[in-house]
Amino acid sequence: MKLIFLGPPGAGKGTLAALVAGLYKIPHISTGEIFRAAIREKTALGVKVQAIIDAGQLVSDDITIELVRERLAKSDAVNGFILDGFPRTIPQAEALASIVNVDAAVNFDIDDNDVTARLSGRRVCKNCSQNYHIDYMKPKVEGKCDKCGGDLFIREDDKIEAITKRLEVYRAQTAPLINHYRDLSKLVDIDAKPDSGVVLESFQKIFPLA
Ligand code: AP5
Repeated sequence: MKLIFLGPPGAGKGTLAALVAGLYKIPHISTGEIFRAAIREKTALGVKVQAIIDAGQLVSDDITIELVRERLAKSDAVNGFILDGFPRTIPQAEALASIVNVDAAVNFDIDDNDVTARLSGRRVCKNCSQNYHIDYMKPKVEGKCDKCGGDLFIREDDKIEAITKRLEVYRAQTAPLINHYRDLSKLVDIDAKPDSGVVLESFQKIFPLA
């Protein structure tokens, strides 16, 4: 199963991708997470992209496409993957089509108010990147990751100015991909508003486990 997860920031793509990757035994490839790891490790890539990401802008197509090309060439992605947050522009979608044929683009449908509530309450584990939410997905111990005990932090791009910018960028550059994949008969819409268990059930009805 070779899937793209599309949708606005905070739609729950990363949360569902982590669940699906575990159940379907396919890698969860998040370009945002690859960039954040590079920032944490202070690599040359991380230094280059930090200010762009913190401001809620997109990293250049050239950098992002090359990174995904290299990641998809790894052996664990041969039989399937979830691309979470890529492609995000039409040139990225065109480049992806020249690398691999995806089965479907899953569009996480949700409105701006829900997105803002989700992003402004998100907390992320410093060690393992597990997502939480202060109201909807609380950790058992406040400020600590249930999985590894790591400290939880607020992403720089979850501050309100960056959220507003990310939504603007999403509408201008990423939302056109919905029609792009609809025209290719690859679009699948999922209502992303209910809680993640319900979203997972909707997903499993469309993509039953073999
Ligand atoms: P990226 O990390 O991809 O950010 P994003 O697309 O903005 O997505 P998010 O991670 O914010 O949200 P999500 O949909 O995964 O939601 P989540 O599951 O976390 O990219 C970050 C940046 O990197 C970009 O802005 C850009 O700069 C750069 N970048 C990345 N890819 C790029 C590309 N292809 N080209 C150029 N630049 C790129 O959930 C959000 C919150 O809601 C969490 O707190 C969660 O606990 C909660 N939640 C999740 N599901 C539910 C639910 N069903 N009900 C209630 N709460 C829920």
